[in-house]
Amino acid sequence: MTQGLQLDNLTYSVDGRTILQDVDLFVAKGVNRTILGASGVGKTTILKLMLGLLKPDSGEVSIDGEKIGHLSEGKLIQLRSRIAIVFQGGALFDSMTVGENVGYRLLEEGRPEREVERVVREKLSFVGLEDTINRYPAQLSGGMKKRAAIARALACEPDYIFFDEPTTGLDPIGVYNICNVIRLLQAEGKTILMVTHDLETAFNVSDRFSFIHKARMIFEGTREEMLASDHPAIREFLEPTDESLFTKL
Ligand SMILES: Nc1ncnc2c1ncn2[C@@H]1O[C@H](COP(=O)(O)OP(=O)(O)OP(=O)(O)O)[C@@H](O)[C@H]1O
Ligand SMILES: [Mg+2]
Repeated sequence: MTQGLQLDNLTYSVDGRTILQDVDLFVAKGVNRTILGASGVGKTTILKLMLGLLKPDSGEVSIDGEKIGHLSEGKLIQLRSRIAIVFQGGALFDSMTVGENVGYRLLEEGRPEREVERVVREKLSFVGLEDTINRYPAQLSGGMKKRAAIARALACEPDYIFFDEPTTGLDPIGVYNICNVIRLLQAEGKTILMVTHDLETAFNVSDRFSFIHKARMIFEGTREEMLASDHPAIREFLEPTDESLFTKL
């Protein structure tokens, strides 16, 4: 069985508009891959397709070699429990404390309170937030909220972790902390799929890169290969110029 996440020839459209066309992607177990691309190009959509939250028009999504298209809802939920996603906005529940945010899913699963508290403390300590366990999200900075959202994603011990724009909107220290956490997770053997338009963060944490442009995956490779690419869209992304800005307008 192939260990990893795979998209095979995936096409997805909304209201007759093609968002993704014939997209192939493989995220091998243990790898840290980033999908890069301009805003609105379909990066978040790929993560939702991967989780089975959206259905493709054609093509297949496989998790550890298992095609998810024909699975029952129950089996899909079971497979999905191996994957955690840290959403673009963080999306903590404002009415719950940080600790409750991190632990609620485990409590819902009926795990004993003592055990849940142990996991919550361990995950908060992993992201450097053990002191915030009784605070409310409104009392945290933007970077702390993102780290709390990561702790919540880690509570169910996923094999795969998706990050959607984890560093967007953070100051340099916030970015540094998040990059550190992502690298630590990879060192622990987690498989990471990140989508972002933040090139610096991507180069900082990932081994492999994919690039989407006009609904297609036009590049897959290492940082060096991407830097050497002569595709005009990649060149523009790497080195935006006034000229490219004006041609877009
Ligand atoms: N529910 C929806 N209904 C209609 N169009 C949608 C819907 N969701 C997404 N889209 C469109 O699909 C395209 C891809 O959206 P997506 O959110 O995947 O982009 P993205 O690359 O994640 O963008 P960003 O970098 O801004 O987060 C966009 O053009 C968006 O307008
Ligand atoms: Mg997005």
